[in-house]
Amino acid sequence: MTDTLTPILTKFWDDPQSWTLATYEKHDGYKALRKALGMKPEEVLGAVKDSNIRGRGGAGFPTGMKWSFMSPPDGGPRYLVVNADESEPGTCKDVPLMMANPHSLIEGVAISSYAIGCEHAFIYLRGEVVHVYRRLLRAVEEARAAGYLGDNVAGSGVKVEITVHAGAGAYICGEETALLDSLEGRRGQPRLKPPFPGAAGLYARPTSVNNVESIASVPGIILEGSDWFKGMGTEKSTGFGIFSLSGHVTNPGQFEAPLGITMRELIDLAGGMRGGRKLKFWTPGGSSTPIFTEEHLDVPLDFDSVAAAGSMLGTRALQVFDETVSVVRAVSRWTDFYAHESCGKCTPCREGTWWLRQIMTRIENGQGTQDDIDKLLDICDNILGRSFCALGDAATSPITSAVKYFREEFEIGMHTPAHVLFPPERSVLF
Ligand code: NAI
Ligand code: SF4
Repeated sequence: MTDTLTPILTKFWDDPQSWTLATYEKHDGYKALRKALGMKPEEVLGAVKDSNIRGRGGAGFPTGMKWSFMSPPDGGPRYLVVNADESEPGTCKDVPLMMANPHSLIEGVAISSYAIGCEHAFIYLRGEVVHVYRRLLRAVEEARAAGYLGDNVAGSGVKVEITVHAGAGAYICGEETALLDSLEGRRGQPRLKPPFPGAAGLYARPTSVNNVESIASVPGIILEGSDWFKGMGTEKSTGFGIFSLSGHVTNPGQFEAPLGITMRELIDLAGGMRGGRKLKFWTPGGSSTPIFTEEHLDVPLDFDSVAAAGSMLGTRALQVFDETVSVVRAVSRWTDFYAHESCGKCTPCREGTWWLRQIMTRIENGQGTQDDIDKLLDICDNILGRSFCALGDAATSPITSAVKYFREEFEIGMHTPAHVLFPPERSVLF
């Protein structure tokens, strides 16, 4: 068992007023920014590239490589946009990070902006989290008043401004190009890629869109060095990450650990299964990733091992379901979510998620027909790989994986409602 967690971003979350500049500075806050400003921008970029940090928003694309793919400077503006639209069901890492330690993100934005030549960065925040919006605005004000943002960052002559923008609560606006459309004031819908944002992003200018946790990890990489970062995690999934455990564990919450830790270790760290019940299924990266079962408890939670085992590490949103839960009912709720959040731009996802919802509701209510499982799988097959963005594919993952591991529960849905088979009063969650 991994003997230690790696409290780095979460190190002083329990301090009183952990979100203030004074607390952050007490814990070496903004030292990395001063160090970065003494380096050349390309050296800062080189250090991030050398750390091999992979994007913490879910896709795991190497952050340094993304920055180096931006079109070369031409004298016009270049942008950093932080994707703080955390919405993946079960994901709860960026919001607590921004609440407890917003200055790690702001320092990360200042350093990253310097590295890529951006003078005006944006933080696009999920609209519902008004408390986070207020906290970020206050932290940006504090940083500006202390000279860490503005026209002359820490007396270096470098300019970095931050605008915090609250979205309006659409899941699709977490897709990077829909986010950019929304930020530009339009309806948030995915754009065709390529061009990737690095070539033509915000206002058609070179833009890097990065997750909150990716950017908040940058100060540590600069201050401690890329070897320090690579000393944690696995060879191809370096560093640490915040794993959010929810559901039927004794102590749900955020656990910051090296990538490669296993679910068995994390459940132990969370005090074991609640009430000593048996694990039934879990998600490695939120509802968008195929579910796992007990047989996957020892899969190292790094990008490649999870993929090799048939799912995706995604956002490390570990949702735990015990034996009292109907998998059909759980998947049916996720299907409702995807049908509701489908932006409607492309037919396979818009129509397909609607049909998936009809069939899942029938099966959940014990009114399924003989060919409903085949129909479900056929519709998933027609959505997967044929949708305009990842949302369509994501809608199919929980269904196909649940049928793979729990087909008999779907078959029972031909005649017995899920609430009869798994009475809600016996379950903690549903
Ligand atoms: P993607 O793999 O298409 O792209 C990932 C990043 O790499 C993007 O920034 C993209 O611009 C960049 N990229 C990829 N290929 C490139 C190339 N050839 N040149 C330059 N840049 C390139 O994945 P996508 O669609 O951006 O994200 C899907 C992921 O988002 C899923 O894996 C899921 O885990 C995650 N997700 C996270 C949510 C959250 O709340 N954090 C919500 C929903 C999904
Ligand atoms: Fe919109 Fe769904 Fe198509 Fe994505 S896959 S563009 S969310 S309709």
